[in-house]
Amino acid sequence: MNILVTGGAGYIGSHTCLKLLEQGYGVIVIDNLCNSNPKSLDRVCALTGKDITFYEGDVRDEALLRKIFATHEITAVIHFAGLKAVGESVAQPWRYYDNNLNSTLVLTKVMSETGVKRLIFSSSATVYSGDNQMPLREDSHTGGCTNPYGWTKYMTEQILSGLAHADKDWSIVLLRYFNPIGAHESGLIGEDPRGIPNNLMPYITQVAVGRREKLSVFGNDYATHDGTGVRDYIHVVDLAAGHVAAVKYAAANTGCEVFNLGTGTGYSVLDMVGAFVKANNVAVPYQIVDRRPGDLDECYADPTKSERMLNWRAEKSLEDMCRDAWNWQSKNPMGYGE
Ligand code: NAD
Ligand code: UD1
Repeated sequence: MNILVTGGAGYIGSHTCLKLLEQGYGVIVIDNLCNSNPKSLDRVCALTGKDITFYEGDVRDEALLRKIFATHEITAVIHFAGLKAVGESVAQPWRYYDNNLNSTLVLTKVMSETGVKRLIFSSSATVYSGDNQMPLREDSHTGGCTNPYGWTKYMTEQILSGLAHADKDWSIVLLRYFNPIGAHESGLIGEDPRGIPNNLMPYITQVAVGRREKLSVFGNDYATHDGTGVRDYIHVVDLAAGHVAAVKYAAANTGCEVFNLGTGTGYSVLDMVGAFVKANNVAVPYQIVDRRPGDLDECYADPTKSERMLNWRAEKSLEDMCRDAWNWQSKNPMGYGE
């Protein structure tokens, strides 16, 4: 069974390609490499001893997609391709709407025409509005997004659920990720952000490896146990396994279903710094600075629907996440760049 993975050279995509190959699926990747390095896929092939068919191109390129669907017998598509930097989306909204919405529109058009109607989509906990009680359930309030990136995820969910409503042959799984961190235990693939990292864990690892002087902790006056923001961090290898579970679910069901992929446990920024220092015995200097606009006190999942219906649950511990993130960063101080 062949799975087409859009954005497969990226952080979550590369870990998912690895899991798919390990489980015996054939993997075809389309990625325009706008935020990734093809070395990630070379390393996935080296780790598994298996091949990936790679197309360097844009998911909005309808002719290329037609060629891919004509060349390969594809069972399902996992659609990771998208732009994901929140601040950049505020500065460049058109680029985000164009890339993230048109990629999905062109992809589903070609899928529909070729009769491949199984799709797994990368959504985000960012679609939940700020007025919810924790933990977040799939039926918690959504909308009220604070940036164009979040709106692209919200709108794509609307587009895809409308598609499944109108055509009962579709099987669509919307996966709302919480905060993916960590890396494959080999240290050969991992997260390699361009420029200054926006997210907490890559910033911590870059401080630890000496690329940044110190971490700025964004606010210590939140309504949390130590005043710093609480999030649901999930190991990227657990997240990848969630995609394989979703592929199996999509093969057995039709319609459109949404699932949280999180652990159900929240940790604060200072919990994360402490756990990282303890797991790796390295220093992470930090300073408390002002809050980052748009941040919430806390955000964590109720993962029980995924456990029940996808037969999936996150298994790795916070220590695993911290150890594996550092293993990747310390073996690849400049990411794939060296
Ligand atoms: P990533 O940037 O590492 O991977 C995305 C990949 O898509 C990159 O390889 C990029 O080159 C490619 N891409 C982007 N636009 C493309 C296009 N038009 N055509 C072809 N390729 C294109 O990001 P990631 O962290 O692996 O995230 C994967 C998906 O999960 C994204 O849709 C992201 O929004 C979503 N997501 C990520 C997080 C997170 O914290 N990492 C959280 C929630 C949701
Ligand atoms: C951010 C995005 C969200 C996106 C998610 C995953 C914002 C407002 N939200 O979420 O849309 O889906 O990333 O890509 O950008 N922190 C620091 N110092 C840092 C970095 C982060 O203190 O240098 C804190 C934050 O304030 C937060 C926690 O660490 O409390 C996690 O931050 P981050 O990794 O950026 O994830 P989210 O804020 O959950």
